[in-house]
Amino acid sequence: MEHTTYRSKKGVCTMAVDFSKSKTRENLMRAFAGESQARNRYTIAAKQASRDNLYSISQIFLFTADQERAHAEVFYELLRGQTEQTIEICGGYPVNLAENVTDLLKSAVHNEMQEFEDVYPEFAKIAKEEGFDQAAGAFDMIAKVEAVHGRRFALLAELLGKNQYFENPDGGEWMCMNCGHIQKGKMAPPVCPSCHYDRGYFIPVELAPYLMPELI
Ligand SMILES: [Fe+2]
Ligand SMILES: [Fe+2]
Repeated sequence: MEHTTYRSKKGVCTMAVDFSKSKTRENLMRAFAGESQARNRYTIAAKQASRDNLYSISQIFLFTADQERAHAEVFYELLRGQTEQTIEICGGYPVNLAENVTDLLKSAVHNEMQEFEDVYPEFAKIAKEEGFDQAAGAFDMIAKVEAVHGRRFALLAELLGKNQYFENPDGGEWMCMNCGHIQKGKMAPPVCPSCHYDRGYFIPVELAPYLMPELI
């Protein structure tokens, strides 16, 4: 590590490395690139889900894409002092262009869990070692969100893969994301009985936005 140590009256301290020469500067740019790409991958995946009449899944991709944009912004802001500079990075980024939505979800799970388990913990560790606590905190906090993203995509992939996104042999409830109608039964109807939108607008109530069980 490129730390300079010095002895203060209170004991030995570690002085942070110069940010412009740090690994954290590069890692923030890697994270910005990764988040920016995740945002676009999910926006593109949302289009595929819409083409397959999986409107509610398309909305979940878009919702997640917007959070990736927010993550990108957090990392970008931490580079504010580098304005007008170009930061060279070396990194690997995935290509996930499956036409099947379940496959797109599975790829997303892989990428999210990689960020949660490997990439961001490593970036956070380096940032701490280099003395950049704010960056370390951002990597730690955003890593936890990626785990939530990963688990949600995994649940969607599982339900779609088992044909249980619109069906539940034990009985379930679905909400139409166009009009809010809630349908109980063993499956979501082919079209919403209230607004006549396609079945693809239904979402299992457990995943429905802003829907509290006590309101049903
Ligand atoms: Fe993210
Ligand atoms: Fe994510």
